[in-house]
Amino acid sequence: MLPHPPLAEHYASTEAKPAYVNQLFDAGAKHYDGVVDWGFLRSGSFYRRWALKRHGLAPGQRLLDVACGTGLVATAAAKLLGSADTITCLDPSAGMLEVAKKKLPATFVQGRAEALPFPTDSFDFLTMGYALRHVTTLDEAFAEYHRVLKPGGRLLILEVTKPARPLPAWLFKLYFGKIYPGLTRLFTGSREAREMMVYFWETMDACVPPEAVLEALRNAGFADVKRTAMLGLFSEYSARKP
Ligand SMILES: C[S@@+](CC[C@H](N)C(=O)[O-])C[C@H]1O[C@@H](n2cnc3c(N)ncnc32)[C@H](O)[C@@H]1O
Repeated sequence: MLPHPPLAEHYASTEAKPAYVNQLFDAGAKHYDGVVDWGFLRSGSFYRRWALKRHGLAPGQRLLDVACGTGLVATAAAKLLGSADTITCLDPSAGMLEVAKKKLPATFVQGRAEALPFPTDSFDFLTMGYALRHVTTLDEAFAEYHRVLKPGGRLLILEVTKPARPLPAWLFKLYFGKIYPGLTRLFTGSREAREMMVYFWETMDACVPPEAVLEALRNAGFADVKRTAMLGLFSEYSARKP
């Protein structure tokens, strides 16, 4: 299952998507932290840590943070785990990884969710923050998540989800589709940073509904699959490998 149909304005086919997404994040990497910090009213690091804690991340666990980007989830996780020693961060973007490496002494690996370069049954906990829309297919990514988690291992995927009701959906579109990319350009002076935030909105707008994500997780073999939605917007998809 595709997380969204190919976005023809940016790339011609699903095969061309990874290269587009990669250059987008490479080019926007140096602006990413600043833009998401004010764009989400400085709530990001508190929220990530709070979500990880509620979903059971605890000292002693081996964590794989897929799509680590600049390390925002991993930095929050290190605070809960007490160190970064048991954290592995994976991302395809060299630019994003370069920023993350300066923040914490975790293990960093360049790679993609759909082909994780780790042995079966390796991790106690797997996270993916705000990147579900960027994988090629949900089925490939979830099969890999299931494979690398140990039996009993837990999965947490954080996402922003477009509201279903018309008025919240309209406000969401106004903010993420117009105001946020416009202010990004104004504050950073960077066309690349604006393009990253335009794409952020377009992929949220085109994304499959939460029920489809839950179904894909069940199809991959996960148990206790559920979605918690903070304010109806901040989706937390959680699951356990039986
Ligand atoms: C919006 S950033 C999220 C970064 C971070 N997780 C956070 O919470 O802010 C999305 C990240 O997904 C990465 N990404 C894109 N395609 C991916 C793929 N197929 N597998 C893993 N990561 C991918 C990008 O390089 C980028 O760093």
